[in-house]
Amino acid sequence: MTVSTAEDADPADEVMCSCSGTRRGEIQRLFQQGLDVDAISRRTGALTGCGGCEWNIAEFLAELAASRLT
Ligand code: FES
Repeated sequence: MTVSTAEDADPADEVMCSCSGTRRGEIQRLFQQGLDVDAISRRTGALTGCGGCEWNIAEFLAELAASRLT
């Protein structure tokens, strides 16, 4: 029997917004296309439910923005 662990998982597949099912990879792709958080929210439905993903997504976008500058 194969047991998958967190280490096996592709980080891009991680669901960042469980209300909309939006995955990390989709948020990254849209950000790289130049969309801001509001546009990403409109496109994916992320942040339009409970709001529980807000800080996690904001932090991820800040990391992406920072990595662009280096
Ligand atoms: S988890 Fe993203 S709006 Fe609820």
